[in-house]
Amino acid sequence: MTHFPATRLRRPRASDWSRRMVRETALTCDDLIWPIFVKEGTSITEPVKSMPGVNRLSIDKAVDAAKEAADLGIPCIALFPNTPDTLRSEHGDEALNRDNLINNAMRAIKDAVPSIGLLADVALDPYTSHGQDGLVQDGKVLNDETVGILVQQSVLQAEAGADIIAPSDMMDGRIGAIRTELDKAGFSHVQIMAYSAKYASAFYGPFRDAVGSTGVLKGDKKTYQMDPANRLEAIREVEQDIAEGADSVMIKPGMPYLDIIREVKDTFGVPTFAYQVSGEYAMLLAAAQNGWLAEDAVVLESLLAFKRAGADGILTYFAPKVARLLNG
Ligand code: PBG
Repeated sequence: MTHFPATRLRRPRASDWSRRMVRETALTCDDLIWPIFVKEGTSITEPVKSMPGVNRLSIDKAVDAAKEAADLGIPCIALFPNTPDTLRSEHGDEALNRDNLINNAMRAIKDAVPSIGLLADVALDPYTSHGQDGLVQDGKVLNDETVGILVQQSVLQAEAGADIIAPSDMMDGRIGAIRTELDKAGFSHVQIMAYSAKYASAFYGPFRDAVGSTGVLKGDKKTYQMDPANRLEAIREVEQDIAEGADSVMIKPGMPYLDIIREVKDTFGVPTFAYQVSGEYAMLLAAAQNGWLAEDAVVLESLLAFKRAGADGILTYFAPKVARLLNG
């Protein structure tokens, strides 16, 4: 047999130039959204213990980070506040302070780096004394009452300069309610990226450390965040958020949920983002720091996998590192 095997799939893999030609997926700086933790004060760069290389930054330092992001070609940053305990309350009132940490940070960044996209997370957990994303009554997280607050929080964030409002609270009906209020308040140009399929995940641990809600959270978030066992429900969540006016949707966490990303992208074809969450970051770095994984290679591979799964972009704490690697 002269033709054994007739097809040799190794042939196009044989050299670098050829692999480059047949490559199906690419990762670029345009795919990156960088989540940044903000803290009160000045000149503060405070390491997050469970996330080596990630810091809580005071506003002046966050402005520097935004400049760095813009210089690296990262299109968008996402801001999360580390709210002092003294400002946390039962109803999360600080969320509706127009001069709270996150709103002040956005104004400062917009002023200094107008070219960068600003994503603002909408939920009450950075502000509540119980750490839940919504209002709690008799041990239950209230839906409609919480949405009433989230719409106000969203409008204040838009006023402060948010380009994308990203509700991460998982209350029912919040996307439509927020869209309506944003439009009424003159912010019809502000996008909504819905955390549509956000799972009640154990991978958020280090994030709660970063924003200071680890010791604060009572109970879990299973009555609003999704059950990791469910796939069809994720499709219904996404479908609903698109119908309510979401411009883009997000799947979270990332790596353990690549199947959901693929299915959402194939089903709806809308801009689809993934969040490589704090626990995924911690996991990869811990192994790398032990010398058990090659850090750069494993980080790049993990992000490429999101693209292959259908994601249009990834929220990742590796964003500046990866941008530097990609810019070579
Ligand atoms: C808050 C929020 C969380 C994350 C993003 N927004 C935590 C949570 O739902 O408890 C997690 C991000 C990460 O782990 O990196 N609603």
